[in-house]
Amino acid sequence: MSQPVLVPRVVADTPLDATIEGLLRGKVEVVPLDLVRSKGSASVDAEGLYTYGHPPTDGALLDRIRGLKVISNYGVGVDHIRLDDAQARGIPIGNTPGVLESTTADLGFALLLASARRIIEGDRYARSSEFVRYDPGHMLGREVHGKTLGIIGMGQIGARIARRAVAFEMTVLYHNRHRRKDVEAALAPSIAHADLDDLLARSDYVMLCTPLTDATRGLIGERTLALMKPSATLINIARGPVVDTEALTRALSDGRIAAAALDVTDPEPLPRDHPLLVLPQVVITPHLGSATVETRRRMAEVSVDNLMAGLRGEPLPHPVTR
Ligand code: DGY
Repeated sequence: MSQPVLVPRVVADTPLDATIEGLLRGKVEVVPLDLVRSKGSASVDAEGLYTYGHPPTDGALLDRIRGLKVISNYGVGVDHIRLDDAQARGIPIGNTPGVLESTTADLGFALLLASARRIIEGDRYARSSEFVRYDPGHMLGREVHGKTLGIIGMGQIGARIARRAVAFEMTVLYHNRHRRKDVEAALAPSIAHADLDDLLARSDYVMLCTPLTDATRGLIGERTLALMKPSATLINIARGPVVDTEALTRALSDGRIAAAALDVTDPEPLPRDHPLLVLPQVVITPHLGSATVETRRRMAEVSVDNLMAGLRGEPLPHPVTR
């Protein structure tokens, strides 16, 4: 009788996408994270932790996975993982840079256009019984070309947003910890660095492209929203907690800013009766930044490569460094 082949055990927040399941089949045994949680403080044996839908991951969880060698995250943002806790335990973390930036920039720009040109409202109206005749005075939007886009966070995604904006004949202001002379040179004379308050005061559209860190949590709140033009739109493709949700709701309800387009919220999802969900000037998508068939496939491959390297005790192809 043949012996069962022993494969490493990997804890994961299931259910996983079918592509990932396919890539892992026969290579690892998946142990559902819910099972670990249901065991209270008892520990489980597993060599890997695969974080799929941003499960909060701290030292207490890591200590309950006996023999843990690697954490592999499906996605680039790792704000749900306590990096210090993993580092203190000598557990490397892998993520998926380099495969999703253009896709996320596309979504950011789609949100900007959808909000400015009232695509979602227009779609609902065009399907409704109210649409009985073409009215040239109806549902006027805000122009995009010729306007100023303020980009907060000029990393890989921000730089791609800037390129798209310039192609749409916009002027770009950006705020970033470090000047991006390379991006400035590529897009001159349509781009300039600005300090945060100046960017907020001068932009018609403000797009958030920063990671969530202690420095960016709550960056957009009462004070910063008050600096924005009443005609301005806030677009968030970063992380929900970069924006103070209640301050944003008040600013929109009082007409202190014109509109918002949000791919991420805090909390995520918002409670189903949250006032933001009924404001017509708000466009919301369910965290779709990198959600295309091709990009999700590449993210699956990179994250599984990281996982398997860590399980073998090898350096991760894409380690998270701080
Ligand atoms: C990311 O890459 O961080 C996206 O939010 C998908 O997880």
